[in-house]
Amino acid sequence: MEIINASFVSSVADLAKCPPPDKPEFAFIGRSNVGKSSLINMLANRKQLAKTSNTPGKTQTINHFIINEHWYLVDLPGYGYASVSKTLKAGFGKIIDNYVLNRENLDCLFVLLDARLEPQKIDLSFLEWAGSAGVPIALIFTKCDKLSANELAKSMKRYQQVLEKNWEEIPPNFMTSSETRRGKEEVLNFIDEVIRNSQENK
Ligand code: GTP
Ligand code: MG
Repeated sequence: MEIINASFVSSVADLAKCPPPDKPEFAFIGRSNVGKSSLINMLANRKQLAKTSNTPGKTQTINHFIINEHWYLVDLPGYGYASVSKTLKAGFGKIIDNYVLNRENLDCLFVLLDARLEPQKIDLSFLEWAGSAGVPIALIFTKCDKLSANELAKSMKRYQQVLEKNWEEIPPNFMTSSETRRGKEEVLNFIDEVIRNSQENK
């Protein structure tokens, strides 16, 4: 699948203000600075559709983009950003918790993980939380351009070993880079497949 057109719909601070849940929807979540907004731009072939920044905590609202006039990509705030973490004690943030648990047309939540890092506690607990709530999840490893093939293979193995402990079956996963566009086709084909399957099941 190619993204032919992509445009901004809304930026809201609350699930209730999101667009009507009448289209397939795919959202991106992960720690601040992991590369959510950059990935959306890479998939959509647009430099500044979603706003990116070197400073963590850039995206603070729920941002909907309509793709090919038919489905939504959603840029979410990061979890685990230091200055807001005090308010996150009970969960991952009110906006995130409410959206993730209650957005009825959410077909897949892509959880982004930095390919360079060892599995981080906060990511593992987010995955466990969302997984046990029955949210459909896929994993996206970001910034793969920053590792050699050898380092990347090692890091993937480490993630696999840790994830196997909690997951009977590891969710679909993709190695990506917003710099080199690695993984673009794979992620878009996956989205296409999910949309087709859900239409068939209706
Ligand atoms: P918040 O909105 O703050 O939660 O961050 P975010 O997850 O949306 O991250 P964003 O896309 O703003 O990217 C953060 C920084 O990482 C920026 O400086 C990006 O240029 C850089 N970055 C993102 N993806 C990649 C990638 O695949 N490779 C490299 N080398 N840098 C990346
Ligand atoms: Mg962002």
